[in-house]
Amino acid sequence: MSAFQILQVGPLAPPTNLTLQERFGAVALWQQADPLAWAREHGGAVRVVVTSARHGCTAALIAALPRLEAIVSFGVGYDSIALDAALARGIQVSNTPDVLNDCVADLAFGLLIDAARGIAYGDRFVRAQRWPQGGFPLTTRVSGKKLGILGLGRIGEIVARRAGGFDMEIAYHNRRQRDGAPWRFEPDLKALATWSDFLVVACVGGPETEGLVSREIIEALGPKGILVNVSRGSVIDEAAMVAALADGKLGGAGLDVFRDEPNAPPALLALDNVVLAPHMASGTHETRAAMTALTLENLEAFLATGKVLNPVL
Ligand code: DGY
Repeated sequence: MSAFQILQVGPLAPPTNLTLQERFGAVALWQQADPLAWAREHGGAVRVVVTSARHGCTAALIAALPRLEAIVSFGVGYDSIALDAALARGIQVSNTPDVLNDCVADLAFGLLIDAARGIAYGDRFVRAQRWPQGGFPLTTRVSGKKLGILGLGRIGEIVARRAGGFDMEIAYHNRRQRDGAPWRFEPDLKALATWSDFLVVACVGGPETEGLVSREIIEALGPKGILVNVSRGSVIDEAAMVAALADGKLGGAGLDVFRDEPNAPPALLALDNVVLAPHMASGTHETRAAMTALTLENLEAFLATGKVLNPVL
């Protein structure tokens, strides 16, 4: 393989970095002093970019790689990849769908139960030795409640199935009604939020869903409602959510994603009605291994056949 055919934008797990370097001769772009300048100078032979949902691929990088044919990404979300720029040049883009569905849905449920029942808050309460001074406040029942799901895609569907085990009533809002889905479709997101005890955000990120969960939707969910986000911080009006949580206009939240990762809004840190997670929904040994394998399979398939296995569109 000639030099610089494969360019890796940012670090993955160390063994994956090693595999990419040793088996595929990938160049580590993040280790270059000026990555974009490196790409402009040396990127003429690059055919494949390997990246992740976190590291993405900018339009500027794509423009610096005149022979780029494929972008192979680790992760399901592709809002960090300049898709329009890639598609305009016929560049294939792959992701790692399905293998993370269970773990993301599990974490959504973990955050929901924690935000409702105060598990992390209770843990802080016991550790701070506050128990002997008085009992823990009452919390919110989970089983049998009304669950709204924003985005009945692969992950949203598993959230719905998990909710069946908690005897919940389930409804969802999507761009369009899903054929054959056994759950109630609600075409109006505000009506869904008003009806829901809990609203789980599981839709795609990116411009089409930017700010979809607006102040109006947050206030419709209301003072007893709980908002869970395992999608992208960009889907929620974060400033409105923070204000509503602080003012009691929203009951609680379980959040795995934020607008300015790795920073969570400072105002959330002091709130006991909020559970915060460091974008860890897919972060289990099992799922990350499956995501790595699928990333490498997409890369190998492209090199062998000229086609990725999991094109995003
Ligand atoms: C994904 O795969 O998109 C996860 O959110 C990790 O970024």
